[in-house]
Amino acid sequence: CGIVGYTGVHEASPVLVAGLRRLEYRGYDSAGVAIVSDGRVVVRKRAGRVRILEEALDKEPAVGHCGISHTRWATHGPANDRNAHPHVGGKGGAVSVAVVHNGVIENHSALRAELTADGFLFLSQTDTEVIAHLIARELGDGDGLFQAVQRALPQLEGTYGLAVISPRCPGQVVGARLGSPLVVGLGEGEHFLASDALAIAPHTAKVAYLQDGEVVRLGPDDFEIRHRERGSITPRIDRIDWKPDAVELGGHAHYMLKEIREQPETIHDACRGRFRRAEATAQFGGLNMTPRQLRRVRRIVFAACGTSWHAAMVGEYLIERLAHLPVEVEYASEFRYRNAPLDDRTLVFVLSQSGETADTLGALRESKRQGHPTLAIVNTVGSTIAREATGGIFLHCGPEVGVASTKAFTAQVAVLTLLAIHLGRLRHLSFTDGLAAIEAVEAIPQALGEVLAKIEPAILKAAQRLAQTKSVLYLGRDLHFPVALEGALKLKEISYIHAEGYPTAEMKHGPIALVDRETPCVFVAPRGALHAKTLSNVEEVRARHGTIISVGTEGDESLEAISDIFLPIPDVPEIVQPLLAVVPLQLLAYHVALLRGCDIDKPRNLAKSVTVE
Ligand code: G6P
Repeated sequence: CGIVGYTGVHEASPVLVAGLRRLEYRGYDSAGVAIVSDGRVVVRKRAGRVRILEEALDKEPAVGHCGISHTRWATHGPANDRNAHPHVGGKGGAVSVAVVHNGVIENHSALRAELTADGFLFLSQTDTEVIAHLIARELGDGDGLFQAVQRALPQLEGTYGLAVISPRCPGQVVGARLGSPLVVGLGEGEHFLASDALAIAPHTAKVAYLQDGEVVRLGPDDFEIRHRERGSITPRIDRIDWKPDAVELGGHAHYMLKEIREQPETIHDACRGRFRRAEATAQFGGLNMTPRQLRRVRRIVFAACGTSWHAAMVGEYLIERLAHLPVEVEYASEFRYRNAPLDDRTLVFVLSQSGETADTLGALRESKRQGHPTLAIVNTVGSTIAREATGGIFLHCGPEVGVASTKAFTAQVAVLTLLAIHLGRLRHLSFTDGLAAIEAVEAIPQALGEVLAKIEPAILKAAQRLAQTKSVLYLGRDLHFPVALEGALKLKEISYIHAEGYPTAEMKHGPIALVDRETPCVFVAPRGALHAKTLSNVEEVRARHGTIISVGTEGDESLEAISDIFLPIPDVPEIVQPLLAVVPLQLLAYHVALLRGCDIDKPRNLAKSVTVE
């Protein structure tokens, strides 16, 4: 979900709505604003996209200089006008506060019962409405909103990023954070609050990230932050340094397509300054670990969700191959609650594009709590995971807006390849092999440029074949097994066609039962040590009349001959093949979704960053 708050010299509503548009990729089930206007609160909220809210505001404007807004990804209660945020609190129809909320309030049923008994009337099925009434009750006839919020918060169990306004304190926005991000933007005669710096980037580059347990009061000219235990806080002011056009479409039809096409540059950016040719290795400034400490490591655990989990799995194959270190890849949501044995020579990494995924953050905190050095591979500078990790690696691939992750995946894989080389060179990877590996990574941006320049016609043909199917199998071996998983995930996320990824040879132990004329198989099969075996697996599908789409090495006539559609990538060493092989699969998913008329950048039920468990 996305939150934006504003107080200052300008009309609030246009600032809030423009901010929501920039955050819409975070959730788009419904959207709403609340503005303090002439001593009362005006609320406009609608199920559906921000565009629908904008139309409502055009018809019935909400005028005033202070307000809050929200775009929702539903947790409690379906997406309808009533459940849309903001929610208001007060007794007997009098609105004394309006609240927007990200997170989940776990004791909402008990609070709802208590507040109902106290005479508060509930209008929605959301957990958020209890917060509004609680603050209204605390506000009573007494002191200001800031104090009332601070008294209400200890009664809540769960997680929240909150923004609150009240007609009793015009010109003030109060925010609070526990487990769900909030950032304050500092302007001249105006202040902003948002769940993501992206929302306020056009207005100011000066930001202060709130920490868990902090509450902020913003006025047009001043702000103050208090921590629930530590009292008054002097915040650290950070600067966001994105290029102004980083989140514009720039002539592309969708963010996903833009981000797919950006990958030659983003892989280059992810690797920039990290090659150390003279020593045939890679270097990372932020790991905060000495070579000696890294040499002591006996095992690595990666924890992540979704696409980041797939990238971690490519990392597992690479690190085992180049550094001979055992690696385990865990779903963050499982890892955080399991009693996974971690000894003091285990190094834990969490991977996250957004740096805000609740489960991944939970995994990081659990690992740190157990006393392990816990590193993060993250794209978003200033994100919670980036700030809480003991060290790590940034992806530097710029903001990713398309809900289906693409450029973050390849940046993660590029960085993991360098990490594998780095760890390998601290062990027994030879100078020559290290240098060959470095050179292979260096050559990828150009090779990927070639793929993108040539492959679209073949992709379009493949997309036509898939557009009407019900189910697709993706198969890959070794390093390409996670690529197959990622290809399948991309297809189901944005085209809603069922797709499954499997290790190629595992196919005969079950999934082959699905193969018939109607069920296409996508093989990820660039030339490598096990290529002959893969070709036999392709034949097995052919013998059962399955349509075969394959991603293979340019000039591989044997594979091309047995494929219905062949998607060629340049001949590169095996360790860097995933960086090229995944891109035709991203494009394939994109074009299938386009043919099916799907909303590519905002697939149903999904959100870019899931800040609830
Ligand atoms: C959501 C997104 C996925 C993403 C996953 C992990 O489910 O829809 O695209 O891969 O979260 O996100 P993260 O930001 O932690 O990499």
